[in-house]
Amino acid sequence: MTSDLTEAHVRARLRTRQLGQRLELKDETGSTNADALVLAQRGAPHGTVVLADRQTAGRGRLGRGWHSPPGCNLYCSVLLRSPAGGADAASFLGWIPLVAGLAAARACQEAGRLATRLKWPNDVLIREKKVGGILCESSGLQQGALALVVGLGLNVNGDPAAFPDEFRERATSLAAEAGQPFDRGRLLAGFLAALEARLTGMESGGGEDVMEEYRAFCATLGRTVRVSLVGDRTLVGTASRIGTDGSLELHPADAGPPLVVRAGDVVHVR
Ligand code: BTN
Repeated sequence: MTSDLTEAHVRARLRTRQLGQRLELKDETGSTNADALVLAQRGAPHGTVVLADRQTAGRGRLGRGWHSPPGCNLYCSVLLRSPAGGADAASFLGWIPLVAGLAAARACQEAGRLATRLKWPNDVLIREKKVGGILCESSGLQQGALALVVGLGLNVNGDPAAFPDEFRERATSLAAEAGQPFDRGRLLAGFLAALEARLTGMESGGGEDVMEEYRAFCATLGRTVRVSLVGDRTLVGTASRIGTDGSLELHPADAGPPLVVRAGDVVHVR
Protein backbone atom coordinates (compact mmCIF):
# COMPACT_ATOMS: atom_id res chain seq x y z
CA MET A 1 0.00 0.00 0.00
CA THR A 2 1.30 3.48 -0.87
CA SER A 3 2.36 5.38 2.26
CA ASP A 4 -0.46 7.95 2.10
CA LEU A 5 -3.03 5.20 2.54
CA THR A 6 -1.65 3.05 5.37
CA GLU A 7 -3.84 2.62 8.45
CA ALA A 8 -1.42 4.53 10.70
CA HIS A 9 -1.21 7.41 8.24
CA VAL A 10 -4.99 7.69 7.87
CA ARG A 11 -5.70 7.32 11.62
CA ALA A 12 -3.18 10.03 12.48
CA ARG A 13 -5.18 12.47 10.34
CA LEU A 14 -8.72 11.57 11.47
CA ARG A 15 -10.46 14.28 13.47
CA THR A 16 -13.95 12.82 13.61
CA ARG A 17 -15.83 11.43 16.60
CA GLN A 18 -17.70 8.68 14.73
CA LEU A 19 -16.92 8.47 11.03
CA GLY A 20 -13.84 6.31 10.41
CA GLN A 21 -13.40 5.11 13.98
CA ARG A 22 -13.80 1.63 12.53
CA LEU A 23 -11.66 1.48 9.42
CA GLU A 24 -11.28 -1.42 6.99
CA LEU A 25 -8.36 -0.89 4.63
CA LYS A 26 -7.75 -3.07 1.58
CA ASP A 27 -5.13 -3.16 -1.14
CA GLU A 28 -7.75 -4.40 -3.58
CA THR A 29 -11.44 -5.18 -3.51
CA GLY A 30 -14.37 -5.47 -5.90
CA SER A 31 -16.27 -2.47 -4.58
CA THR A 32 -15.95 -0.72 -1.22
CA ASN A 33 -19.70 -0.03 -1.35
CA ALA A 34 -20.42 -3.74 -1.73
CA ASP A 35 -18.08 -4.48 1.19
CA ALA A 36 -19.71 -1.84 3.38
CA LEU A 37 -23.17 -3.22 2.60
CA VAL A 38 -21.99 -6.68 3.74
CA LEU A 39 -20.55 -5.16 6.92
CA ALA A 40 -23.88 -3.39 7.47
CA GLN A 41 -25.71 -6.74 7.29
CA ARG A 42 -23.25 -8.09 9.85
CA GLY A 43 -23.99 -5.29 12.30
CA ALA A 44 -20.98 -3.00 11.77
CA PRO A 45 -21.35 0.30 13.66
CA HIS A 46 -22.39 3.72 12.35
CA GLY A 47 -19.40 5.44 10.78
CA THR A 48 -17.59 2.29 9.63
CA VAL A 49 -15.35 3.17 6.67
CA VAL A 50 -14.09 0.82 3.96
CA LEU A 51 -11.14 2.13 1.99
CA ALA A 52 -9.32 0.50 -0.92
CA ASP A 53 -6.32 1.35 -3.05
CA ARG A 54 -7.91 -0.34 -6.06
CA GLN A 55 -11.36 -1.64 -7.05
CA THR A 56 -11.93 -4.32 -9.65
CA ALA A 57 -15.70 -3.77 -9.90
CA GLY A 58 -16.18 -0.16 -8.79
CA ARG A 59 -19.79 0.97 -9.07
CA GLY A 60 -21.01 4.34 -10.31
CA ARG A 61 -24.41 6.02 -10.33
CA LEU A 62 -27.18 4.91 -12.67
CA GLY A 63 -25.74 1.43 -13.12
CA ARG A 64 -22.39 2.58 -14.51
CA GLY A 65 -18.95 1.36 -13.44
CA TRP A 66 -16.26 3.44 -11.73
CA HIS A 67 -12.73 3.29 -13.17
CA SER A 68 -10.56 2.43 -10.14
CA PRO A 69 -6.83 1.98 -10.91
CA PRO A 70 -4.35 1.48 -8.02
CA GLY A 71 -1.98 3.91 -6.34
CA CYS A 72 -3.57 7.23 -7.22
CA ASN A 73 -7.21 7.75 -6.21
CA LEU A 74 -9.57 7.64 -3.27
CA TYR A 75 -12.22 4.91 -3.11
CA CYS A 76 -14.07 4.83 0.19
CA SER A 77 -17.46 3.96 1.62
CA VAL A 78 -19.01 5.18 4.86
CA LEU A 79 -21.77 3.30 6.66
CA LEU A 80 -24.44 5.55 8.16
CA ARG A 81 -27.08 4.21 10.50
CA SER A 82 -30.26 5.92 11.56
CA PRO A 83 -31.57 6.46 14.17
CA ALA A 84 -28.64 4.81 15.95
CA GLY A 85 -26.33 7.39 14.38
CA GLY A 86 -28.11 10.36 15.95
CA ALA A 87 -31.54 11.83 15.32
CA ASP A 88 -33.85 10.42 12.65
CA ALA A 89 -31.69 10.43 9.53
CA ALA A 90 -34.56 8.96 7.49
CA SER A 91 -36.28 12.35 7.61
CA PHE A 92 -33.48 13.90 5.56
CA LEU A 93 -32.62 10.83 3.53
CA GLY A 94 -33.07 12.64 0.22
CA TRP A 95 -30.40 15.13 1.26
CA ILE A 96 -27.70 12.68 2.30
CA PRO A 97 -26.37 12.11 -1.26
CA LEU A 98 -26.22 15.89 -1.78
CA VAL A 99 -24.59 16.52 1.59
CA ALA A 100 -21.99 13.83 0.82
CA GLY A 101 -21.16 15.61 -2.47
CA LEU A 102 -20.91 18.90 -0.58
CA ALA A 103 -18.51 17.34 1.96
CA ALA A 104 -16.33 16.01 -0.87
CA ALA A 105 -16.30 19.39 -2.63
CA ARG A 106 -15.36 21.13 0.64
CA ALA A 107 -12.58 18.63 1.39
CA CYS A 108 -11.03 19.17 -2.06
CA GLN A 109 -11.38 22.92 -1.76
CA GLU A 110 -9.69 22.94 1.63
CA ALA A 111 -6.90 20.55 0.62
CA GLY A 112 -5.78 22.50 -2.42
CA ARG A 113 -7.60 25.82 -2.57
CA LEU A 114 -9.36 24.47 -5.61
CA ALA A 115 -12.54 26.06 -6.93
CA THR A 116 -14.82 23.04 -6.64
CA ARG A 117 -18.50 23.15 -7.57
CA LEU A 118 -21.25 20.55 -7.65
CA LYS A 119 -23.38 19.26 -10.49
CA TRP A 120 -26.70 18.08 -9.07
CA PRO A 121 -26.95 15.80 -7.24
CA ASN A 122 -23.33 15.18 -6.24
CA ASP A 123 -20.73 15.25 -9.01
CA VAL A 124 -17.71 17.24 -7.83
CA LEU A 125 -16.50 19.55 -10.62
CA ILE A 126 -13.48 21.72 -11.24
CA ARG A 127 -13.75 23.95 -14.31
CA GLU A 128 -16.87 21.96 -15.28
CA LYS A 129 -14.86 18.70 -15.36
CA LYS A 130 -15.72 15.84 -13.06
CA VAL A 131 -13.19 15.09 -10.35
CA GLY A 132 -15.34 12.91 -8.09
CA GLY A 133 -18.71 11.34 -7.51
CA ILE A 134 -20.89 9.80 -4.83
CA LEU A 135 -22.91 6.59 -4.92
CA CYS A 136 -25.35 6.02 -2.05
CA GLU A 137 -26.77 2.55 -1.58
CA SER A 138 -29.04 1.18 1.11
CA SER A 139 -29.24 -2.27 2.56
CA GLY A 140 -32.72 -1.38 3.85
CA LEU A 141 -34.03 -1.48 7.36
CA GLN A 142 -32.37 -3.59 10.03
CA GLN A 143 -34.22 -3.82 13.34
CA GLY A 144 -36.10 -0.66 12.42
CA ALA A 145 -32.94 1.33 11.63
CA LEU A 146 -31.84 2.37 8.16
CA ALA A 147 -28.36 1.45 6.95
CA LEU A 148 -27.04 3.67 4.17
CA VAL A 149 -23.66 3.39 2.47
CA VAL A 150 -22.12 6.59 1.07
CA GLY A 151 -19.39 5.80 -1.48
CA LEU A 152 -16.93 8.44 -2.66
CA GLY A 153 -14.70 8.07 -5.70
CA LEU A 154 -12.19 10.90 -6.16
CA ASN A 155 -9.65 11.29 -8.97
CA VAL A 156 -6.69 12.43 -6.93
CA ASN A 157 -3.22 11.95 -8.42
CA GLY A 158 -3.95 10.36 -11.79
CA ASP A 159 -2.97 11.86 -15.13
CA PRO A 160 -6.15 12.66 -17.11
CA ALA A 161 -4.29 11.72 -20.32
CA ALA A 162 -4.40 8.12 -19.06
CA PHE A 163 -8.17 8.16 -18.38
CA PRO A 164 -10.33 5.89 -20.53
CA ASP A 165 -11.47 7.49 -23.81
CA GLU A 166 -15.13 7.78 -22.84
CA PHE A 167 -14.50 10.39 -20.14
CA ARG A 168 -11.03 11.81 -20.84
CA GLU A 169 -12.52 15.10 -22.08
CA ARG A 170 -15.03 15.45 -19.26
CA ALA A 171 -12.96 14.41 -16.24
CA THR A 172 -9.91 15.67 -14.40
CA SER A 173 -7.90 14.99 -11.24
CA LEU A 174 -7.01 17.17 -8.26
CA ALA A 175 -3.31 16.90 -9.06
CA ALA A 176 -3.82 17.94 -12.68
CA GLU A 177 -5.81 20.99 -11.58
CA ALA A 178 -3.49 22.05 -8.75
CA GLY A 179 -0.18 21.09 -10.36
CA GLN A 180 0.82 19.15 -7.24
CA PRO A 181 0.13 15.69 -5.76
CA PHE A 182 -2.32 15.22 -2.88
CA ASP A 183 -2.16 13.08 0.27
CA ARG A 184 -5.09 10.65 0.08
CA GLY A 185 -5.17 10.05 3.84
CA ARG A 186 -5.53 13.75 4.45
CA LEU A 187 -8.26 14.06 1.82
CA LEU A 188 -10.17 11.17 3.39
CA ALA A 189 -9.90 12.74 6.83
CA GLY A 190 -11.09 16.07 5.42
CA PHE A 191 -14.06 14.41 3.73
CA LEU A 192 -15.09 12.53 6.89
CA ALA A 193 -14.78 15.67 9.03
CA ALA A 194 -16.83 17.72 6.56
CA LEU A 195 -19.47 14.98 6.28
CA GLU A 196 -19.74 14.45 10.03
CA ALA A 197 -20.14 18.19 10.68
CA ARG A 198 -22.89 18.53 8.09
CA LEU A 199 -24.77 15.42 9.20
CA THR A 200 -24.71 16.81 12.73
CA GLY A 201 -26.00 20.11 11.37
CA MET A 202 -28.82 18.31 9.56
CA GLU A 203 -29.76 16.29 12.63
CA SER A 204 -29.61 18.99 15.23
CA GLY A 205 -30.45 22.21 13.44
CA GLY A 206 -33.02 21.18 10.83
CA GLY A 207 -30.45 21.50 8.05
CA GLU A 208 -31.25 24.95 6.60
CA ASP A 209 -27.61 26.08 6.85
CA VAL A 210 -26.36 22.94 5.16
CA MET A 211 -28.95 23.22 2.39
CA GLU A 212 -27.96 26.84 1.85
CA GLU A 213 -24.28 25.83 1.67
CA TYR A 214 -25.16 23.16 -0.90
CA ARG A 215 -27.10 25.65 -3.03
CA ALA A 216 -24.11 28.02 -2.97
CA PHE A 217 -21.84 25.23 -4.24
CA CYS A 218 -24.31 23.98 -6.85
CA ALA A 219 -23.29 24.97 -10.40
CA THR A 220 -26.53 23.49 -11.77
CA LEU A 221 -28.91 26.10 -10.37
CA GLY A 222 -29.82 28.71 -12.97
CA ARG A 223 -28.36 26.68 -15.82
CA THR A 224 -30.10 25.19 -18.84
CA VAL A 225 -29.78 21.45 -18.35
CA ARG A 226 -30.57 18.21 -20.14
CA VAL A 227 -31.56 15.42 -17.78
CA SER A 228 -31.51 11.77 -18.83
CA LEU A 229 -33.97 9.88 -16.70
CA VAL A 230 -33.93 6.17 -16.03
CA GLY A 231 -35.72 4.51 -18.98
CA ASP A 232 -34.41 6.74 -21.81
CA ARG A 233 -36.61 9.81 -21.16
CA THR A 234 -34.91 13.19 -21.49
CA LEU A 235 -35.97 16.55 -20.08
CA VAL A 236 -34.61 19.98 -20.97
CA GLY A 237 -35.17 23.09 -18.89
CA THR A 238 -33.76 25.66 -16.52
CA ALA A 239 -32.74 24.33 -13.11
CA SER A 240 -34.63 26.64 -10.76
CA ARG A 241 -34.43 25.18 -7.27
CA ILE A 242 -33.49 22.30 -5.00
CA GLY A 243 -36.51 21.00 -3.13
CA THR A 244 -36.57 20.33 0.60
CA ASP A 245 -36.25 16.61 -0.25
CA GLY A 246 -33.12 17.21 -2.40
CA SER A 247 -34.95 16.94 -5.73
CA LEU A 248 -34.14 19.26 -8.65
CA GLU A 249 -36.89 21.47 -10.03
CA LEU A 250 -36.77 22.35 -13.74
CA HIS A 251 -38.67 24.96 -15.68
CA PRO A 252 -39.16 23.53 -19.16
CA ALA A 253 -38.32 25.60 -22.23
CA ASP A 254 -41.99 25.46 -23.41
CA ALA A 255 -43.10 27.28 -20.22
CA GLY A 256 -45.09 24.26 -19.05
CA PRO A 257 -45.44 23.43 -15.36
CA PRO A 258 -42.24 22.85 -13.34
CA LEU A 259 -40.80 19.34 -13.44
CA VAL A 260 -39.37 17.61 -10.40
CA VAL A 261 -36.37 15.31 -10.92
CA ARG A 262 -35.44 12.87 -8.16
CA ALA A 263 -32.84 10.79 -10.04
CA GLY A 264 -31.13 11.35 -13.36
CA ASP A 265 -27.99 12.30 -15.20
CA VAL A 266 -27.64 16.06 -15.66
CA VAL A 267 -25.70 17.77 -18.44
CA HIS A 268 -25.09 21.51 -18.18
CA VAL A 269 -26.07 22.76 -21.64
CA ARG A 270 -25.59 26.51 -21.10
C1 BTN B 1 -20.65 8.37 -9.78
O1 BTN B 1 -21.05 7.62 -10.68
O2 BTN B 1 -20.45 9.57 -9.97
C2 BTN B 1 -20.43 7.81 -8.39
C3 BTN B 1 -19.15 7.05 -8.30
C4 BTN B 1 -18.89 6.48 -6.92
C5 BTN B 1 -17.65 5.62 -6.91
C6 BTN B 1 -17.29 5.20 -5.52
S1 BTN B 1 -15.65 4.54 -5.44
C7 BTN B 1 -15.94 4.02 -3.81
C8 BTN B 1 -17.35 3.47 -3.77
N1 BTN B 1 -17.36 2.07 -4.15
C9 BTN B 1 -17.99 1.88 -5.31
O3 BTN B 1 -18.12 0.78 -5.87
N2 BTN B 1 -18.46 3.03 -5.79
C10 BTN B 1 -18.16 4.13 -4.88
